[in-house]
Order: sequence, then structure tokens, then C-alpha cells
Amino acid sequence: MNAPVRRFDVEAARAEFPILTREVHGKPLIYLDSGASAQKPRAVIAAMSRVMEGSYANVHRGLHTLANETTDAYEQARESVRRFINAPSVNEVVFTKSTTESINLVASSYGLGLKAGDEIVVSQMEHHANIVPWHFLRERYGIVLRFVPVRDDGSLDMDAYRALLGPKTKMVALTHMSNVLGTINPVKEIIEAAHAAGAPVLLDGAQGVVHQTVDVQALDVDFYAFSGHKLYGPTGIGVLYGKAERLAALPPYQGGGEMIGIVTEDRITYADPPHRFEAGTPAIIEAIGLGAAIDWLETLDRKAIAAHEAALYQRVRRGLEGANWLTEIGQAPGKGAIFSFAVAGAHAHDIAQILDRYGVAVRAGTHCAEPLMRRFGLTSSARASFALYNTLDEADSFVEALIKAQGFFA
Ligand SMILES: Cc1ncc(COP(=O)(O)O)c(C=O)c1O
Repeated sequence: MNAPVRRFDVEAARAEFPILTREVHGKPLIYLDSGASAQKPRAVIAAMSRVMEGSYANVHRGLHTLANETTDAYEQARESVRRFINAPSVNEVVFTKSTTESINLVASSYGLGLKAGDEIVVSQMEHHANIVPWHFLRERYGIVLRFVPVRDDGSLDMDAYRALLGPKTKMVALTHMSNVLGTINPVKEIIEAAHAAGAPVLLDGAQGVVHQTVDVQALDVDFYAFSGHKLYGPTGIGVLYGKAERLAALPPYQGGGEMIGIVTEDRITYADPPHRFEAGTPAIIEAIGLGAAIDWLETLDRKAIAAHEAALYQRVRRGLEGANWLTEIGQAPGKGAIFSFAVAGAHAHDIAQILDRYGVAVRAGTHCAEPLMRRFGLTSSARASFALYNTLDEADSFVEALIKAQGFFA
């Protein structure tokens, strides 16, 4: 930890995000799309500028001062990630482009060792990033995908999950927190059951890592994937945590510079993890930005942030209580601050566009979760997703704007 934890104060936190002072259509911006991508604090912007202005060079080729300084900063970012998720070693932290790339890496490398009839357990609430890479294995090798159903309240059907596990299960790949429902899955229980059946677990932590404290050792998870840009860091950088023995057993994903041991005309050997999985010039500046985001987040009281986000969600729910034109999807106990909804007689895109006129940014569509939309009989929904910088006043303004938007369709 770089600095002592500060008392959480939403106004003080907001002041660290330059973009939040801007207006949209003459109204103060109310940014409720952090589930898609979060805004960036000054600490991140400054860290990225600092490296570009002061010490930028390519990494791991260090024969000169700038290369050494940048390499140190890049590897320091890896250490920040390690500390943040309590990984035993920096060698278990692979930098990727995103959650999507992290999952593709595991699916394609691990998939090489699978055979027709082997099963991968996913769920109906997965983002496409945690479905499509496994579908590739179905198409290419005849792997069978088994989907854990979602209950009406948006929780995972744990009985059905347990029933799906068996000797053919070769991987359980589930989301930590749903980007649509806000459901926070009982990941410890999920992992224990999978391990009892002899299957490793990959958690999609794109949302989970933002709102939960993640301890990969306490969870005993095999792989954990997340993105920098949802965690107040930059785009273009993601993380794959993998247990040392799991990463050691994976063949490389991409070939190129930095990931090899030796290369001759008829032979190659590979570097050890994590470098085995980081072919070519990595996202240097972005990794440093992610490290800065994590260092910054660790100065805040994350329990207080979680309580604040829960209060925002409850405020919206109370504000819309009794609205018979509204259907909320996802009401699982203990869910995170994501409010997904459909308005009777209105397309979600139209609702989002009207809200934008009031300065309110929400997402609308399938949220890259078509099986889940189908499960709830919807073609699309709108979603307000909250972050640490949102205020109760903003929650009220969103409710007010939504009621007005609905008025256009009544
Ligand atoms: C649960 C979940 N998984 C995966 C992803 C994909 O993340 P990325 O686009 O950063 O790879 C997202 C993004 O919305 C997500 O919410």
C-alpha cells in the first residue's frame, strides 16, 4: 500500500475526475455508464503523462537509462496488481489487452489439451467475452458447453450448477459479478464445488474486481480476468491472474518477441510465465496507468465505497417504487449497484437517447449478454451502473429524468 487509507468522501473523490465537471446538452453530466467503462482520476492521467514526458522507452530491452526506468515502472505496475488481488507472485500476473483477451488466452491455450465431449460450464448470465471463446472450442474440437440457469431474481441456480459438475467438466468459467443483473455470485462456493469435481475455475472479474475486494489466494481461484478501464484505469490493458502451476502448464497464446527462450531455424523454447504470454511490445503506458489506478484506489476506503454504491442503488429503487411501467431485471440479494430495466412500450435505445438530453449517460442494448436477455424475454434493456463518484443527487436526477422520459411513451 502506497498511502494511508483516506475517509471516503464522494465530493472529494469526484473532484479528482476532471471529466465530471463537463456538461452535456447544457446539463451537468450524470455519468451512469461506469459498468461499460469508468472515468479516470487525475492520478491515472498524470502517471501516463509522466512516463511519456519523462522516461518513455520500450521495456525489457534495457541497455539504456530510459529503457530501464520504463521497465521498472511497468514491472512496478505488475507488483501493484499482485498486491491488489493478493497473488502470491508477480509471475502469476499476466498483462493482456482486456478481460476479453485474458479469457481468449485461457480458452485457446487450455483448449488445446481438450477433446470432443469434454465439458465447459458457463452460465446464462455471462458476458459474450466469457461465452464466445468457449464456443470456439465447441466449433473446433467438439467441446460441450453447459449453461448454469439463472433464477427469476437474477441469482445463479446453485443446485443446477452442482448437478452440472461431473468427470467430464474440464473448466468452470463464470462471472464474479453480472454486468446486467448486478448479481454477485457465491464464488467461494462455486470454486469449492468445482475443485471437488476436479475442475479448475476461471472467474470473469471485469465487474467483480471493481466492486469487491478480491483475494485470489483466499478464493483459491485458478484464473481471474479483469480489465483496466472499468477499474478507473486506461483502456488497452487487462490482467490474467493464473496460479503458477496452471500458467506453467499452458502453451503460449501468441508468438513473437519477448515470449521466447531461444529461437533457431528448427526449434523454439519459451520464456516462463508471465512473459510467455506477453508477446511483442506490451501496453506499457497503459499498464503503468492501471498500476496508478490501483495505487489510487487503495488509498480509498473500499468498504465505504461499497456502502455508498449500495445506497445509490437503493435510492433509485425507492424513487421508482410503484412505477408500473418499469420492469427491473436482477434483484438478487446482496447485488451490486447496477440497475437494469425495461420501460413498457419504449425501446431501451429511445430511453437512453432521451436521458442523454437530460445529461444522463446510461447504456442500452443487449449488454453483450444475449443468452441472458433471452432468458428474461427481452430484446434489449437499459442499464444505469454506478461508480464511487456518483452522488445521491445524481441518483435522484436520474429517477426524475427517467419518469419524464417514460412520459413521452405513456
Ligand atoms: C462481466 C464482463 N465481462 C467481460 C467484459 C469484457 O470486458 P472488456 O471489453 O474490457 O474485455 C465486460 C465488459 O463490459 C463485462 O462487464
